[in-house]
Amino acid sequence: MKGKSERLIVVSNRLPFSFRRVADGRWKSEQSGGGLVTALLPVLRHRGGMWIGWPGVAEGSDGLDRELAAVGEGAGYALKAVPLTPEEVRNFYEGFSNEIIWPLFHDMQLLCNFDPAYWRTYRDVNRKFARVVHAECGAGDFVWVHDYHLMGVASELRRLKSGARIGFFLHIPFPSPDMFLKLPWRLEIIESLLHYDLVGFQTLRDRRNFVQCVRELLRDVEVEGRGQVLQATVSGRKMRIGNFPISIDFNAFMRQAATSEVAAHAKELHRLLPNRKLLLGIDRLDYTKGIPLRLQAFQNVLERYPDLRERISLIQVVVPSREDIGDYQELKTEIERLVGRINGSFVRPGGWVPVWYVYRSLSRLDLLAYYRAADIGLITPLKDGMNLVAKEYCACSIEEDCALILSEFAGAAAQLANNALLVNPFDIEGVADAIHRAYHMDAGERQARMRRMRRSIRENDVFWWVDSFLRAAIARDLKAFPQPEHVVPDEIIDHTPLVL
Ligand code: G6P
Repeated sequence: MKGKSERLIVVSNRLPFSFRRVADGRWKSEQSGGGLVTALLPVLRHRGGMWIGWPGVAEGSDGLDRELAAVGEGAGYALKAVPLTPEEVRNFYEGFSNEIIWPLFHDMQLLCNFDPAYWRTYRDVNRKFARVVHAECGAGDFVWVHDYHLMGVASELRRLKSGARIGFFLHIPFPSPDMFLKLPWRLEIIESLLHYDLVGFQTLRDRRNFVQCVRELLRDVEVEGRGQVLQATVSGRKMRIGNFPISIDFNAFMRQAATSEVAAHAKELHRLLPNRKLLLGIDRLDYTKGIPLRLQAFQNVLERYPDLRERISLIQVVVPSREDIGDYQELKTEIERLVGRINGSFVRPGGWVPVWYVYRSLSRLDLLAYYRAADIGLITPLKDGMNLVAKEYCACSIEEDCALILSEFAGAAAQLANNALLVNPFDIEGVADAIHRAYHMDAGERQARMRRMRRSIRENDVFWWVDSFLRAAIARDLKAFPQPEHVVPDEIIDHTPLVL
């Protein structure tokens, strides 16, 4: 592989396909879930290159390489597996990544389990990834490392004397110093990130938090510049720090949502749930997504606004995720208890069921049909790097006749602030009021808001995101990177309550 120049080498914890062995000994692959894979799949399909990551199974899996080659050939790019031992899965993936960094970076410090053994394995696994990248990477390739599992790959590559250009993108939020400084390994993590040539964040707020943490922890690092990309000088070496809001393949979603098959499925949903507006929440099972509070807000709207009873149903899709971690199992039980309570209190025998609850992964067709059928998107994470569901929902709303209720703590709020109904997801009555407002919003306002959101997402799609990241990595002059116009700095996001 070495020698083919100018390839894009994507490195992430998870490969875009997870593999498992089925009863007859053959391998079965399935597309992985979550925002990272959703965003990067169209990029690699478009550009080709290589994707390096964990295939979702333990080391020593016979015949997996052949299967990877076959799947990669079909996909149009090479796949390279980094197998993990069961102990690595436990300490690096479930432990350090998902019991420390994930909750801490989402401001949920009380859920963190700062076990020192997790840190040691995290470092070892980052080294393991770096060795694989080093072996695969040729001069001229661009290595693009993704997300919180792999913050230490660049420093390990530098230790191996790799001269590769290496970028890093964090898909989740970066916390404020108040939160970050609680991490026992804060200095090691910040120093590791500064070994990349470019570190990208989703929003201006995340980038600002990172720069503040750098300043708190390392007095001799200089950060300068304005605009979208800043320059830092670390022991005489220059690196860059920017904000690049991730997006979706807008045109693909729009085209697929417009097919007659999707239209028929969406119509069928309205036939099954007739004479009402459909609200839609779609989330991976995760405590950051705010599902229990959303359900409480839905209950509150039915209690306080009886005119909406039998006129509205919430479709809540929960996609299974991280089921081996205790907090996720408890969350599932909590969601199911709340759904049962709401349906038990309001159901009309033989007729209206307030919450239509789905707990499984969706086929592409079902996903598009839910998006297209829904009159109101209800996306209320407590904290979220971007939230691509919000953008997918807009892309699929081809009639433009629907409303989006969006948490002000989702990264997408910086782009959609003026046209979505922004809510504080912790404010149960505020979210209920927004549902009521969206229900009664007149068609003219609904359409104008949706049209503007769709235009903004179309102009700044996932290909724009990749180009702006890669250009920032190689550009000579950073003045060519003013802050994108659609990014609303968080201090001017309107936090005033909705007037009903
Ligand atoms: C989020 C993270 C991704 C992760 C995905 C699914 O979108 O940013 O890095 O892959 O969740 O989570 P999982 O733990 O199943 O990979």
